[in-house]
Amino acid sequence: MRQTLSSSFVIPLFLCIFFFFVSISTSHGLTATNDSLIRKTCKKCAQSDPNLSYNFCITSLQAAPHSHCANDLRQLGKISITLLGRNVTNTRSHIKELLKNQKKMDPFVRSCLHDCFDLYSDAIPTTKQALQDYKAKHYDDANIDVSSVMDATTTCEDGFKEKEGLVSPLTKRNNDAFMLSAISLSIINMIRLNGDSI
Ligand SMILES: *[C@@H]1O[C@H](CO)[C@@H](O)[C@H](O)[C@H]1NC(C)=O
Ligand SMILES: *[C@@H]1O[C@H](CO)[C@@H](O)[C@H](O)[C@H]1NC(C)=O
Ligand SMILES: *[C@@H]1O[C@H](CO)[C@@H](O)[C@H](O)[C@H]1NC(C)=O
Repeated sequence: MRQTLSSSFVIPLFLCIFFFFVSISTSHGLTATNDSLIRKTCKKCAQSDPNLSYNFCITSLQAAPHSHCANDLRQLGKISITLLGRNVTNTRSHIKELLKNQKKMDPFVRSCLHDCFDLYSDAIPTTKQALQDYKAKHYDDANIDVSSVMDATTTCEDGFKEKEGLVSPLTKRNNDAFMLSAISLSIINMIRLNGDSI
């Protein structure tokens, strides 16, 4: 009786400790796998495009929802285009606020902001189209869509440069969207050339 009692206690305890370690090592293993997918991808992106910062790539993709669950390059590409779409949407709202809240504004700045608002408004459906084309494996079309979003960010930023002494209030946001576009483009092109393998 005594023996039965103790073994019925000891065995579950043993199993519990055993599964505790199994689950620790498994979760570490999975995170390592998925983080290594992000690292490998960002390394390749940075190599293929000198304008693309490796650290920006790592930080953005790691912070993206579900990126740690991505188990191949294709999924990571979907995540990066979604991230770009959200970024562009946020920036459009930001420009709207700027136009609404700052009544006393240099008319030239105001007209630049209006242009940027239009550019970003068009970019939102384009990122949706990019995601659809990407999911349908129409990589050439997805490439064209993302490239046009990328162009929108530089067109917006360049507008402010046309008048001497002006400082663009959107430099950081334009750069962020530019870089996110570059990451997406880079992944699209990798898949187009090599499939999912990285
Ligand atoms: C890098 O950025 C410069 C300046 O914005 C641009 O002229 C050049 O085409 C870019 N290179 C690539 C590979 O995108
Ligand atoms: C855009 O993405 C970058 C990189 O992930 C992030 O740092 C930035 O906060 C985002 N900006 C907006 C407006 O969502
Ligand atoms: C990580 O990737 C693996 C396959 O490589 C996948 O099964 C798992 O769901 C992913 N996510 C996490 C959080 O481990």
